Amino acid sequence: MTIGVCYFPEHWPREQWESDATNMAEAGIEYVRLAEFSWAVLEPERGHFEFDWLDEAIEVLGAQGLKVVLCTPTATPPKWLVDERPEILQADIDGTPRHFGSRRFYCFNSPAYREETDRIVSRLAERYGDNPHVVGWQTDNEFGCHRTVRCYCEDCSAAFSDWLAEKYDTIETLNERWGTTFWSQRYPSFEAVDPPQPTPADHHPSLLLDYYRFANDSVVDYNRLHANLLREVNDEWFVAHNFMGDFETLDAHAVADDLDLVTWDSYPTGFVQDRREDDPTLDELRAGDPDQVSMNHDLYRGTNDAPFWVMEQQPGDVNWPPTCPQPGDGAMRLWAHHATAHGADAVLYFRWRRCRGGQEQYHAGLRKHDGSADRGYHDASQAAAELDGLDVAHVDAPVALLHDYHDWWAISSQPHAPDFDYWEHLRTYYRALRARGVQVDIVHPETSLEDYALVVAPTLHLMSEERADHLSDYVSDGGHLLLGARTGYKDSYNRLPDARQPGALSNLVGATVDQHESFPASVDLSLMYDGDAYDYRTWSEWLNPDEADVVAEHTTAGVTEAKPAIIRNEARRGTVTYVGVWPEAELANTIVGDALQTAGVTSTDVLPDGLRVAERDGHVWVTNFTSDAVTLDVPQGTPCHVGESKTERNDTVDVDPFGVAVVECRVDDVAVE
Ligand code: GLA
Repeated sequence: MTIGVCYFPEHWPREQWESDATNMAEAGIEYVRLAEFSWAVLEPERGHFEFDWLDEAIEVLGAQGLKVVLCTPTATPPKWLVDERPEILQADIDGTPRHFGSRRFYCFNSPAYREETDRIVSRLAERYGDNPHVVGWQTDNEFGCHRTVRCYCEDCSAAFSDWLAEKYDTIETLNERWGTTFWSQRYPSFEAVDPPQPTPADHHPSLLLDYYRFANDSVVDYNRLHANLLREVNDEWFVAHNFMGDFETLDAHAVADDLDLVTWDSYPTGFVQDRREDDPTLDELRAGDPDQVSMNHDLYRGTNDAPFWVMEQQPGDVNWPPTCPQPGDGAMRLWAHHATAHGADAVLYFRWRRCRGGQEQYHAGLRKHDGSADRGYHDASQAAAELDGLDVAHVDAPVALLHDYHDWWAISSQPHAPDFDYWEHLRTYYRALRARGVQVDIVHPETSLEDYALVVAPTLHLMSEERADHLSDYVSDGGHLLLGARTGYKDSYNRLPDARQPGALSNLVGATVDQHESFPASVDLSLMYDGDAYDYRTWSEWLNPDEADVVAEHTTAGVTEAKPAIIRNEARRGTVTYVGVWPEAELANTIVGDALQTAGVTSTDVLPDGLRVAERDGHVWVTNFTSDAVTLDVPQGTPCHVGESKTERNDTVDVDPFGVAVVECRVDDVAVE
C-alpha cells in the first residue's frame, strides 16, 4: 500500500528539483509519474531530441529512492507536427476538425499519427530501457477524454469500411444482420457505409452500435501499439493506462487485455457534479459520493487479474467541474484509504504543484504554486504513514456485478426513455450492495462465475446463446442470479431476437416479458413486494410467469395494475430472480437484501448514506464521507490500526468527519451507534 504523485519538472526551474524530491521523500511518496504531456519539450523540432532534462529529473528523484513511471507523450502532439501533418486531426460528427490548442485532438486511425507514435515511443523506450529508476509506463493519457473515442474523419470512414468487411464478409450479410430494409437503408458495398452523420431522425441502431464498437477497437489497437513497443525494449516494465470515472465510450475490459496494471483517475468532488443524475449535497461537494467512486475502483480492479492503482487522485480543489469547492478537512487522506479498502495498491496524487501557466492554473497540487505545502500534502503524508507496512492481500468479493460496455452502447443508441441511463441503473444495484458493506467485483459477463455466491446482472441487454448457457451453468452449479430489467432484449446486432424477451434466457428465468413501458419522472410508479408497497421509476415490464413464482405485482394505476413485476424461479440447484422494473433505493435495498440472504453472503444492516465499510483481507475500513462524526461499536478487543479508540478494550471507535478507521474484524461486527 503506497502513495505517489504526478510531477512536471519541465514546468519549474532546475534549481527547485532537489527540494521537490526531498519534500516528496519526506511525505513518504514512493512513485512519481513523469513526462506525460512533454513531447514538445522532448522533441522541439523534428528529429532534434532533448532528453537531458528528463535524464536529470529521473536521477534527482532516483537519488531520493523514488521510483519513476514514465508516460508516452502522445496525448499532446507538438505544433510543428500538426502543421506538418494536419491529417492527424480528429473530426467532429459534422466534419469540423478538432484543432491544436488543448489536447487529444489526434485520430487513433490516422496512419500518419501511428507512424509518429511509433517514432517517439520507440525513441523514449530505448533511451530509458535500462534506467534502474524507471519501473513502468503509462500509455498516453485518459484515452477518450473530452469525447474523443469517436472520431468522424476520412481515415476513420475508410477504416470503418474495412472493419465491417472483416466482420461481415459480404454486404448482403451486413444488410441482413442490421435489418436495413427498414426505411430503405440497404447498402450496396462496404465502402458505401459512412460513419453516422447528422440525420433528420434517429440513426440506425445497428450502425450506431457497430460504429461505437469500431471506434473502441481503434483505441484498443492504438494502445496495443504502445504496449508492444515498450515491451520489445524491456519486458520487466509494467504497462499501464489511466482510465476515467463513469466512462461510457471505451471498453476498459478490452483495453486491459494488453495491460499489466489497470489504473484510473479519481476526482470525487467533480464526479458528483458532472456525471451523476442527482444534485450533490454539500457533504458530497466536499468529499464526493463513496459509491460513485468505489464503483470505479471495483470496475477497474475487476478488469483483469492484475493489481489496480489510482493513477491520479484529486489533491484539493480542481478546475474542471461546474463549481470547485474546497474538499473537507482530511478528504484527500480519506480517498487514499477508501481506494485501498477497494483493492488499490498505490494512490498517486495529481499533481505535485499547482501550475502557473496554461489551462489548469485553478487546479490544486500537493504544493501551492509558490512551493509551500498545501492541504493535500499533509493529507497525503498522513495516508502514506498510515498505509506504510500494511500488508493485505487482494479483495475477495463474494458478489459479481455483470457489466458489458456493448450493452451500455446499445441502450444509449435506443434509450426508449430520456431518463433510462444504463450506468445509473447499474448504480442502483451497486449502491444497495455497498449500503450493506458487501464487496463487489464488477466484471465482464463471460468471466468465470463459479467463485461468486451471488451474481447481479442489472441489464444484460444483448443476449447470445453462449452467454445464456454461461449463466445457466452458474445456476445449475447452485449459483444465485439476480437479473434486472431490459435483460435479453436484443441480439448482438442490436435487433430484437426471434423469441420473446428475455430471449435465450427465457427457460432459465421461467418467464417472458409480455409488455414493456417507460414513464417520465413526474409519474408515480409502485408495486407490492412480499406484502409491502414500494416505488420504482422510469421502466416497467409486465411479466408472464411460466414456471416462476410471482413475488411482486404492479400497483401502478391503469393497464399496468396487478401485472406481475418481479418473479423468482427455483432453477436447477440455484435461484433466478428477474426484476422487471428500475427499483427506487428502498426497493433495491429489499431485493438485494433478500438475494444476499438467499446466497448466504455476510452483510451489515443498511448503512447511512455517506458512511461505508469495506473488508480487505480481514481488515475493515470504515470511511466517513460526511461532516458528522460517527461512533462505532465493535467486538471487545478489536485491534484498531487507524482511528481513535475510546476505550482500552477497543469496543467503540470514533470516526471524525471525513475521517477513517481501520479495524481488524468482520464487516457484520461493525455497528453504527
Ligand atoms: C485528468 C487528466 C489530467 C488533468 C486532470 C485535472 O484526469 O488526466 O491531465 O487534466 O484531469 O483534474
